[in-house]
Amino acid sequence: MAKMVLYCWLPILFCQIWELHTLSLTALSKQSSIFYQGMQEDMVLEQVDQLTSVDSVKLIVHGFLGSRSHNSIMPLRNAYMAQGFENIMIADWSPAANLDYASSRRAVATVAMVLAKELEQFLSRHNVSHEAVHIIGHSLGAHIAGRIGNYFNGSLGRVTGLDPALPLFTPRSGDGLLPNAARFVDVIHTDYPLFGDLTPRGTVDFYANFGHAPQPGCEEVDLLVASKLILEAYSCSHNRAVLFYAESIGMPKNFPAIGCGWRAIKSKSSCSKGMSVSVANMNDDHVVYMGEQVTHSATSFYYLETNAEPPFGQGITAKFV
Ligand SMILES: *[C@@H]1O[C@H](CO)[C@@H](O)[C@H](O)[C@H]1NC(C)=O
Ligand SMILES: *[C@@H]1O[C@H](CO)[C@@H](O)[C@H](O)[C@H]1NC(C)=O
Repeated sequence: MAKMVLYCWLPILFCQIWELHTLSLTALSKQSSIFYQGMQEDMVLEQVDQLTSVDSVKLIVHGFLGSRSHNSIMPLRNAYMAQGFENIMIADWSPAANLDYASSRRAVATVAMVLAKELEQFLSRHNVSHEAVHIIGHSLGAHIAGRIGNYFNGSLGRVTGLDPALPLFTPRSGDGLLPNAARFVDVIHTDYPLFGDLTPRGTVDFYANFGHAPQPGCEEVDLLVASKLILEAYSCSHNRAVLFYAESIGMPKNFPAIGCGWRAIKSKSSCSKGMSVSVANMNDDHVVYMGEQVTHSATSFYYLETNAEPPFGQGITAKFV
């Protein structure tokens, strides 16, 4: 950010270079597109003739340094396909995502606009209601998902933010994911303070292991990534949000969570007033399930612990200390 501001205070020549850069960033952002996941291959949306069902559309959006086949999002696609979900689509904004982070972050609004228009055409051509649409975005893709939701004035059914990107975003950034992005917005936090954010951004926000890095099982990998700062796309804790979500698609009740105060989450203190409670002893009123089958009446903040390796969810054996 400091660098961007500096450029504009430098002599005129540099300002011109900066403007050129902005022009090319816009051009790269406009190369974004959505791909429909067919049985054999993926297709651009215009190639899709007819839908067998208009009840559900899933749109996955990758993050910084990603692409539509990047391993940071493939687990989501694969889990949806394996469970027989229809109309799985993946946004590809790789031309604008594979720049320096500050530029990719600046591309969020334009990329979202391009994708939103493409989605809008597809929905009206196939007579799909806005409510049937669920966008799942990771990292910068979570903010793009939010912006697409804003384009539709909050009329989409659901937006899921998987560890929304923290760097160069504030809670007030106009192009960031916010609770009004859709009728229901659920967010999973896993990587504060590296790439991920603790800022509540959803109707409901889940703080896995208090949302802080390192997540269990990521202790050593995260250190390596942090030392390279944000040049690395793949942070273990940052990507955990994706893996948790992907696991929940096939195992709907694997991530029980309990309500927790904002202060307790920030300070990583107890969420159950020092009492150890197990899910087995709680009734469904107190437990909310994180992930694909999240309880849509859930609001505010939830806490849960996870295992260090798959299956990450603790299911019926979960305890809250
Ligand atoms: C579109 O959907 C609406 C409501 O689901 C239905 O009433 C209408 O007939 C559909 N139109 C077309 C062209 O399929
Ligand atoms: C969102 O609201 C604006 C202003 O009311 C309107 O012009 C626009 O068409 C709406 N967009 C959609 C996708 O409904």
